[in-house]
Amino acid sequence: MYKKEVRNICCIGAGYVGGPTMAVIAEKCPQIKVTVVDVNEKRIADWNDENLDKLPIYEPGLKGVVATARGRNLFFSTDIDNAIREAEIIFISVNTPTKTYGVGKGMAADLKFVELCARQIAQVAENDKIIVEKSTLPVRTANAIRTILKATGNNVDFQVLSNPEFLAEGTAVADLHNPDRILIGGNQDEAGLAAVECLVNVYNNWVSRDKIITTNVWSSELSKLTANAFLAQRVSSINSISALCEKTGADVEEVANAIGRDSRIGAKFLKSSVGFGGSCFQKDILNLVYLCNHFNLPEVAEYWLQVVKMNDFQKHRFAKNIIDTLFNTVSGKKIAFLGWAFKKDTNDTRETAAMYVADELLQDKAEIHIYDPKVAEKQIYKDLEYLQTHRVGHFVEQGENMSIAEIKQLVKVHKTPYDATKNAHAIAILTEWNEFKSYDWQKIYANMLKPAFLFDGRNITDENLLTKIGFEVYSIGKGKLL
Ligand code: UDX
Ligand code: UDX
Repeated sequence: MYKKEVRNICCIGAGYVGGPTMAVIAEKCPQIKVTVVDVNEKRIADWNDENLDKLPIYEPGLKGVVATARGRNLFFSTDIDNAIREAEIIFISVNTPTKTYGVGKGMAADLKFVELCARQIAQVAENDKIIVEKSTLPVRTANAIRTILKATGNNVDFQVLSNPEFLAEGTAVADLHNPDRILIGGNQDEAGLAAVECLVNVYNNWVSRDKIITTNVWSSELSKLTANAFLAQRVSSINSISALCEKTGADVEEVANAIGRDSRIGAKFLKSSVGFGGSCFQKDILNLVYLCNHFNLPEVAEYWLQVVKMNDFQKHRFAKNIIDTLFNTVSGKKIAFLGWAFKKDTNDTRETAAMYVADELLQDKAEIHIYDPKVAEKQIYKDLEYLQTHRVGHFVEQGENMSIAEIKQLVKVHKTPYDATKNAHAIAILTEWNEFKSYDWQKIYANMLKPAFLFDGRNITDENLLTKIGFEVYSIGKGKLL
């Protein structure tokens, strides 16, 4: 049976989820040794760098948390076997991308990293362990993990729990410090419930008991997919209305405010945008769609797939609007992108709408000049190069693949917004960074070609002010008919 008081935790995967989550557990539980391991040596070196500005992930507040706990009870290491051996609880927080090959290609989650972790744990473990699924996984994955552990292990007992992470990037530390809820699913037998209680006790160091929900494993796994599907659905719903607003002269922000004041609807997650991005929403919905089809529920699958289709449409609509407005071609024209990250306050670019918009403009031979406060130049080129051979989406023109040399000819990355927008025909705002509000827009306007177009995909700029300066402004979901 599992001891109630845990002293040693390990987490496999030092990414956007594993890193911040373990840092906060270590910060809040000084009595527990927390070791985060990863196969990526560079990533671990960055987590261990004395210069906290070199942490591999940018999250507000994260530096302070790491400074408090690192070296005290928080450790980053590549010695996976040793960390597994020592730990009572092992979190699996490796990535689970959409499969790009074979059965379920483009839909199902690729579980090969999770499976590898399970095999490694089984081989190395010398005493009973609690294995926690932190990665978002399809329903019933715990069964697969359990089977591998049982078949390979040296007669030790493994309990598999599901403990999905609900933190949002950009607010990860705040979300971890003060979560809406913690969800823990476990087997509904004596050993399973005891394991659940162990993990409850860890969180209970800083989260009150009434915020910790315990369920069976399948409910927990499915709740994570469902939460992301519902959140994404709200964004696609308001984005679908933004298209209608633009045609009718309505203002999507006024509509969102009016409906959000209904307490049954609620005000959050009603911000119309160029489209949702991030590593989770699309992947998790496709995963849900795959599961529904697998369990022979095609109507349910089609219902959720529409959320992704609407998101593809929104990104395409934004790019097409730029081309249409710039007199039907952007060939040889300079388009400045403000923002590349999938949302503000993060350097994460996974599935960012910006790269899909860029791709469509590049098909039309535009020159793109990018400024983002946190995303590194090499990441932007990496994203565009990857996209050439991994275009997915329902409105994506399968244009010619460009080589990295061709991409570098057309795409330049700048260190200031003023450099990026110099002599531009148009500006496109792709991320809602706060700093965009306080630029010297007069100066930017003065240095652009006229007419100076601005396409605000985030409704972050002051349209009246910019129009007064002389810009031709097109904001998502704002009708131009009146
Ligand atoms: C997380 C979740 O785990 C995923 O399920 C969710 O849908 C998105 O968020 P995230 O932390 O964002 O993933 O992924 P990433 O930043 O890519 O980190 C995963 C880490 O695991 C990487 O550093 C990678 O090197 C590491 N890894 C991967 C291993 O250590 N071992 C492996 O076998 C595979
Ligand atoms: C999401 C979930 O919120 C989180 O609970 C889960 O653990 C992981 O997935 P994340 O992807 O980090 O988190 O960010 P989120 O704030 O949810 O934003 C996702 C995307 O939707 C971003 O591109 C964002 O710009 C967009 N979005 C969000 C909108 O376009 N409008 C909104 O009103 C809200």
